[in-house]
Formats: sequence, C-alpha cells, structure tokens
Amino acid sequence: MTNDSQAGFSTLSDLEEAASRKTDKSAWAYIQGGAGEEWTMRANREAFHRRTLRPRVLVDVENLEFGATLLGTKVSAPFYVSPTASHGLVHPDAEAATARAAGKANILATFSTLSSISLEDIAKAVTTSPRWFQLYLQPEFSATKSLVERAEKADYKAIILTVDMPVAGTRDKENQAGSPLASSIILGNGREVVRPLRNPIVDGDHAHIRKEASNTWDVVDRIREITRLPLVLKGILTREDARRAADHGAKGVVVSNHGGRQLDHAPASLDALPEVAEEVGSEVEVYFDGGIRRGSDIITALAIGARAVGLGRPVFWALAAGGEAGVSKLLSLLKTDLATVMALTGRRTLSEIDRSLVNNPW
Ligand code: FNR
Ligand code: LAC
Repeated sequence: MTNDSQAGFSTLSDLEEAASRKTDKSAWAYIQGGAGEEWTMRANREAFHRRTLRPRVLVDVENLEFGATLLGTKVSAPFYVSPTASHGLVHPDAEAATARAAGKANILATFSTLSSISLEDIAKAVTTSPRWFQLYLQPEFSATKSLVERAEKADYKAIILTVDMPVAGTRDKENQAGSPLASSIILGNGREVVRPLRNPIVDGDHAHIRKEASNTWDVVDRIREITRLPLVLKGILTREDARRAADHGAKGVVVSNHGGRQLDHAPASLDALPEVAEEVGSEVEVYFDGGIRRGSDIITALAIGARAVGLGRPVFWALAAGGEAGVSKLLSLLKTDLATVMALTGRRTLSEIDRSLVNNPW
C-alpha cells in the first residue's frame, strides 16, 4: 500500500467511512453487525458516554510514558489488536498486513484461529512482533492440541482461549445480508479447523450443538497441561467466572462480550469490568475489549482496572481502508489521542491512571 492510501484519514470515522465504501455488502454486515437487537453492541459505547473523567491541572506533562508489559511482553502502548476472523474479507494482504503494521509499531496483535492465512505465515510476515494466538476449541481435543502446539512453535507468546462462543449468536444483519462465511471463505489454518457453529440443530424439542459445546472448566486444565504458554480466557463478564478462571490457572482474563455479537443483553463490557477487576485484578492480568474508539475510552478502561484494551472493528476499518498503511494510521491516531488525554488529565504514566480518574467507575 502506498502512503496515498493514508491521505485524508484523520479520524477513525474516516477509516470507517472509507471501509464501508470499499467492502462488499455481506462482509460489511458481518463485521459491523451484532447479536439480536444490538442492544449490547450499542451499550458498549453508551457505557463510555456515561462515565466522566476528573482531570488534574498544572501537572508537568511535558514527557509522557505509555509503554506497557503484557504478560511479560514489552509493548509501546496499552492497547492491542483483538482477535478477529478472516482479515482476507477486506484486504488481499489479510493478517500479514495487520501483523506488519502492529509489529512495526510494537503493538501487541492477537490472531484468530479463523485467520485467512496460516498462523505460521502471520509469524513470517514480520521478523519480530509481540503476538498471541486466539484459540477456538475444536470438536476433537487432538485438533485443539495441534493448534496450540503450532502456535507455540511459531513463537506466539500466549494463548487466548475464547469461551463465550459454544455457538454463534443470532446475528440478524448477517443473516439478512447472507453471511460471507457461508460461502467458501478460506480458513488459513487448514481444512481440519472448524468455525463455531452458526446455529443449533433443532430437532423437535431438543437442540444439539457440536461436540466442542460440551466442554467445561476442566478443558482449561487440559490446555494448561499441553503448553508452557500463559493462558488467557476471553469472554468473561462475571465475578464468578473470573474467580474460576483464576482458580484454574489462567494468567489473564479478557472482559468482553465479543463486541455485542454473542449474547444480546449481556452487559456492556465496561459495566462488567469493575466486578472482574475487583475479584481477580490482584491475581491475574485483566484485559478488556468492546467499544474502544478513542484515547478517553482507553484511559477510562485502564482507570477502572484493565491492563490493556483491545480493538476489534476499527482494525477491519483500517485494513479495508488502506491495508498495512491503514492499520499503521489507526495505531498512530490512537497513540496520539491517548497522549493528548493523558496530558489533559494530568497523568504522566500508566500507573497514575487509577480509579480517582473516573467520577463513576460503577
Ligand atoms: C470478532 N471477535 C472475535 N473474537 C474472537 O475471540 N475470535 C474471533 O475469531 C473473532 N472474530 C471476530 C470477527 C469480527 C468481524 C468482529 C467484529 C469481532 C470479537 C473481537 O475479538 C472483540 O471482542 C470485539 O470486536 C471488540 O469489540 P469492538 O472493538 O469491535 O467494539
Ligand atoms: C465472530 C466469530 C468468528 O464474531 O468470533 O464472527
């Protein structure tokens, strides 16, 4: 991609607008849509709108520091690329472009089991880059194990097990537009990999989901036994599940409702964050995603207890709008905005971003 593709993108909305023009209708419905009436998807943004910040003035903010250490990996900012499926839907360079942009900026990128190119090719796209692998359980544990072993061999630094998808949520927009995934979209990790089932099989008064939906907490122990990589559980929304995750040896949790794509009427991620942070924040690293669009969102989530926050849809917008250069632009826009709000709130370092920064954390 040439630098021309970055021209004119000065906000995330510019990237979203350009992406909407360039992206095929069914792919756009898949990316932008949420579950049900999209109440939870909207709530993710509204939860940020309800919080206000308590800025401090006349603080020396000439030099700011926002490098972070995420499960031992040093990165340049406390935000990361959330795992999302099929980057090839919006750009031919697919995850290779995302990996290069994130790697060059020293931003953590996490890659889905359902990537368009293989996890090994993602690793090869950039010589050094902080990256984690997102795991979807497969019907047979042997297939799950093989993905974990491949990720470890390809130098991914952690496994994120996504636990909020025994079956895909009811996505009205996607169903109406015709899912782009129903067609022959390529799964880079091989033919043996399956994506979460789109619908239960309803048979009279019974419903059957595929075998991976039978997994319970002991699968966390089984995965820990087959890898030395730290395990992070993504899709935690309650104090109770956060506790179980910590008790089963997870090193991190991601407070997430999957961008409002799974259970409609799940709480906004930001509204679930305080109870999770309170329960396990001193034992495991607490991550967050859902509705992050601005520097003020990043510091609000950090203040309420997140160590770092993930970006889902904005990465698709950037990739569709300008490939690698688009994603680089997105990351630099967010870094600049983060620095701006740190200066305007009188916070020089991430450790100074605590609950006293938010008027109404709950
Ligand atoms: C996702 N998400 C997701 N999560 C995951 O664990 N594995 C995956 O393969 C995917 N795939 C995926 C595809 C698309 C098109 C979207 C929009 C999202 C969820 C993602 O990691 C994250 O939780 C949300 O996207 C965060 O919300 P925002 O930033 O999109 O508001
Ligand atoms: C989604 C899955 C693939 O949200 O995570 O579409």
